[in-house]
Amino acid sequence: MDISLQHIDYRYQANTPFERLAIQDVSIDIPAGTYMAIIGHTGSGKSTVLQHLNALLQPSKGTVNIGGHEIKAGQKNKHLKPVRQKVGIVFQFPEHQLFEETVEKDIIFGPMNFGVSESEAKCRARLALQQVGLSEDVLGKSPFDLSGGQMRRVAIAGVLAMQPDVIVLDEPTAGLDPRGRKEIMDMFHALHKDRQLSTILVTHSMEDAARYADQIVIMQQGRVAKQGTPSEIFSSPVELVEMGLDVPEVVRFQLKLEKQTGLKLDKIYLTIDELTSKVTEVLSRGVRL
Ligand SMILES: Nc1ncnc2c1ncn2[C@@H]1O[C@H](COP(=O)(O)OP(=O)(O)OP(=O)(O)O)[C@@H](O)[C@H]1O
Ligand SMILES: [Mg+2]
Repeated sequence: MDISLQHIDYRYQANTPFERLAIQDVSIDIPAGTYMAIIGHTGSGKSTVLQHLNALLQPSKGTVNIGGHEIKAGQKNKHLKPVRQKVGIVFQFPEHQLFEETVEKDIIFGPMNFGVSESEAKCRARLALQQVGLSEDVLGKSPFDLSGGQMRRVAIAGVLAMQPDVIVLDEPTAGLDPRGRKEIMDMFHALHKDRQLSTILVTHSMEDAARYADQIVIMQQGRVAKQGTPSEIFSSPVELVEMGLDVPEVVRFQLKLEKQTGLKLDKIYLTIDELTSKVTEVLSRGVRL
């Protein structure tokens, strides 16, 4: 399912003294099957952009196209249910939205609300639990008796049980320990690969953006400041630093190495494995550092 944002503005609390133009002239194309990371400073408009991807917010100006369904500023938009079903959003700290007495009830709530039968929803709940790496033993438990990391996984399972075509992730690993973070990120990457699930990830981690995304969008003060592949984005580290953003550690290491040795590699390497084999290859040609 393709999604496209065309020249959208969004104003919070429009026509009140508290009006705030949060995003401005934002155009982003997300063809089906893309893994896109959106990065940018706090307050740059990332979450506001995300909420347009499943029509939770309607643009104040411009057009959003979600799988052929047009949402235009100033128009009444009906039939949003199919859109919401096909685009799942995992909000920041999604476990705060758990509310049912058991894990199973929590996971089946969404699908049943969209007309899926109870037995089908229960099947989906089992599958979704498997996908997030939890055992079926938790189905009968109260979500509030689980650890923070498990609660996060249950909340994610609830979104997966909707069987979306597109998944939108607003800092899905915030507050988790490094191991939990990697497990969750690898799980979303596997889903993306296995099911061609379009994935849009908001993250503060340049490492995650470099490792998983095929496209990166940088938001700055409500506008798209830059868009490109990870190599394109991270090959201008000075520009990133000027925007107050970081570069992945491996890129920082390469730049330091190049500066200290005078060596100039052919491109920016985004994983330590690739960088190591390149440096090994260069050294094997007899170049001395
Ligand atoms: N409900 C709201 N009412 C008024 N202004 C808001 C509201 N939500 C966000 N804003 C403002 O809109 C701008 C963009 O906010 P947004 O939450 O989209 O940024 P963000 O990039 O997601 O930030 P963060 O990294 O902190 O999550 C900010 O200036 C913010 O203060
Ligand atoms: Mg945000």
